[in-house]
Amino acid sequence: MTDYNCDIFVTRTISPQGMALFEKECSFRVWSGPENEGPDQNTLLKEVQNCKVLLSLLTETINRKILEANNKLLGVANLAVGFDNIDVEAATSLGIPVTNTPGVLTETTADLTWALLLAVARRIPQAHNYMVSGKYKIWGPNLFPGDDIGLGPREQTKTLGIVGFGRIGQAVYRRAKGFHMRILAYDPWVKDMIQKTEGVHYCDLPQLLEQSDFVTLHCNLNQETRHLIGREELKRMKKTSYLINTSRGPIVDEKELVWALKNQIIAGAGLDVYEDEPKMSEGLASLDNVVLLPHIASASKDTRGEMAIMAVRNALALLKKNQAPNTVNPEVYNTKAYHERNL
Ligand code: GLV
Repeated sequence: MTDYNCDIFVTRTISPQGMALFEKECSFRVWSGPENEGPDQNTLLKEVQNCKVLLSLLTETINRKILEANNKLLGVANLAVGFDNIDVEAATSLGIPVTNTPGVLTETTADLTWALLLAVARRIPQAHNYMVSGKYKIWGPNLFPGDDIGLGPREQTKTLGIVGFGRIGQAVYRRAKGFHMRILAYDPWVKDMIQKTEGVHYCDLPQLLEQSDFVTLHCNLNQETRHLIGREELKRMKKTSYLINTSRGPIVDEKELVWALKNQIIAGAGLDVYEDEPKMSEGLASLDNVVLLPHIASASKDTRGEMAIMAVRNALALLKKNQAPNTVNPEVYNTKAYHERNL
């Protein structure tokens, strides 16, 4: 029999609410490297062989090699709603359930989306820097003019284009109603639902890009959405429009975005995520028409606490060989591979 070092390996310290649950229920080990780094692939490979369940963050690449390293691994609990860091297809074929943390971060992420949208359109970081560097000497009619978001002075309204109308896209839409915006949405998976939603017009992507003053991305990252927004799509957008991304970096071809921002193809961008995180494409950081955040859309104290609790509950269910509540590949529970693994 394998001598496991611990029940659960946690790839980085999570919120105390989550850790406290572990303390009561099982043995666990937390990766103890520097706080601003995560375990590398070799460390992960070693650790996965010494645990029954892996609690991972979105920064860890859980590929087939990692999943195959332990034929008794009972599951992977990801602390994130997104799970593009995990090869779910491989996990399913090996009989390994994968879980995520949906729902609890919806409103917090929608809030941050709006914070980014407002910040980039009203040039808030630039104005803040101006203040703290002591440059403000007198009120001026030309100090930091930005763009209106909802109703402007002549009651003209702006158009918001929401790409991906899942939980977070819908929460962004609810806030947009308060700004009296015209709202467009594109999401082929829920076209009927969008068409029935009051105050939203269904649009295909080219139309949405052409008509929107703000385009905000809320889709999952997969083969179909990788580089959904590239040069052609950016060229379709209005020169006065803004792109907001709080979903996943690779949905945008970041080099093309830098080109579009440099050449005034669009007016600006608010980004929380990057194509090759934590790196940024060359030239992005020195642009004046961007607001850049370090992937903090779900980072409120309460939400990160709830995410930790949810991830730990998922991990404990997997440890007890139960079906975990937020399994992203539920079909795995009917596979022979799963049953053999859980004997
Ligand atoms: C954050 O990006 C998440 O997927 O939870």
